[in-house]
Amino acid sequence: MTVLVTGGAGYIGSHIVRAFRLAGLDCIVVDDLSSGHREFVPDGVEFIDTNILDSTLVAKAMVEHEVEAVVHLAGFKYAGVSVQRPLHTYEQNVQGTVSLLQAMHEADVDKIVFSSSAAVYGTPDVDIVTEATATAPESPYGESKLIGEWLLRDAARAFPMHHTSLRYFNVVGSAVPDLYDTSPHNLFPLVIEALLEGRTPRIFGDDYPTPDGTCVRDYIHVADLADAHVVAAQKLLAGTQLEPVYNLGSGDGVSVREIMTAVADATGIEFEPEISDRRPGDPARIVASGELAARDLDWAMRHSLADMVSSAWNARQNHPV
Ligand code: UFG
Repeated sequence: MTVLVTGGAGYIGSHIVRAFRLAGLDCIVVDDLSSGHREFVPDGVEFIDTNILDSTLVAKAMVEHEVEAVVHLAGFKYAGVSVQRPLHTYEQNVQGTVSLLQAMHEADVDKIVFSSSAAVYGTPDVDIVTEATATAPESPYGESKLIGEWLLRDAARAFPMHHTSLRYFNVVGSAVPDLYDTSPHNLFPLVIEALLEGRTPRIFGDDYPTPDGTCVRDYIHVADLADAHVVAAQKLLAGTQLEPVYNLGSGDGVSVREIMTAVADATGIEFEPEISDRRPGDPARIVASGELAARDLDWAMRHSLADMVSSAWNARQNHPV
C-alpha cells in the first residue's frame, strides 16, 4: 500500500513519512521545497519536486505509484505572514487543496488525512478547546485551513472521499537525529538559533492575562503527531469511518516562560530572556483536549516536555541545514 504525502519534505511531513515506513506502508512525497528540504526525505522514498497546483502531474504520480491514500500537508504555513500575503496563502492552501482533490478524483484515490491547525479557533474563549468549540480564524492561514476542511467535507458529499482533518496544536521536538523545525517564525527554532548565535532569546510580551503573563500553548511532540496520522490513514484504509475533525492537543498549557526554563535546563545554558513587545495576533492561551483523538486514533502524549526540548536542540546541533 502506498501513501502520498504532500509536503513530505518538511519538518512534520518527513516525520510522518518515517512513521508510515515504520508501520510497513510505502510513501511517495510531493513537495515543491518552498519550505521543505530535499535531504529530509529518506532514501528509498520517491520524491516528486512539484507544487500540488500541478494537478495533472500529481494525478499521474498517484496512478503510477498505485497510491491508495493521501496525507496532505503541503501549504503556506506562516499564520502571521499570511496576513501580508493573503492571495498567496489562499492560492497555495485553498487552490492547492482543490487541485489535489481533483487529482485524487481523477486517479480514483478516495482517502485523505488533512493537516489542519489550531489556527481555525482564533482566540477561543474557553480554557480547553474541543472539536465542538466554535471556529473563528483570525488570519488568512487559519481561514484557509478551515476552507480545506470544508473542501474535504463537500467533496465527500459529491463523490467517494473518506477523510479526516487533524487540527495540530504546537508541534515541536524531533524523533530523528537530524530532522528539526526550520521555521523562521516559531518559538523553538527562534530560541535555539538565538542561543547558538550567542543572542538572548526573546519573549513576545509578558503582560498577558495568564499566570506568569506570557502566552500559554499546547505543545505536542512531532512523533506523537506522526503516529496519529498513521493510525488515521490505516483506519480510513480499513474502511473505518472517522470524525471529520480531531484536535491533536494534550490538554496541558505551558507558558513561553516555562519553555525558556525547560530550554535552559535541557541545554545547560543559563539565560534571562529579553521581554519584547507582543507579537500581533497571538492569543493569550490556546490549549485543546485530545480526548476524541485518544478514543479513535490511539492519540497519547508519549513524550515529555523535556524530551521535546532536548530532541529539538539535539536535532538542530546534528544537522544544520
Ligand atoms: N514566541 C516568543 N518568542 C519567540 C517566538 C515565539 O515569545 O521568539 C511566543 C509567541 O508569541 C507565542 C508562542 O511563543 O506566544 C508560540 O509561538 P509559535 O510561533 O511557536 O507558535 P504559535 O502558537 O504562534 O503558532 C502555532 C503554529 C501556527 C498555527 C498556530 C495556531 O506555528 O502555524 O499555532 O494557534 F497557526
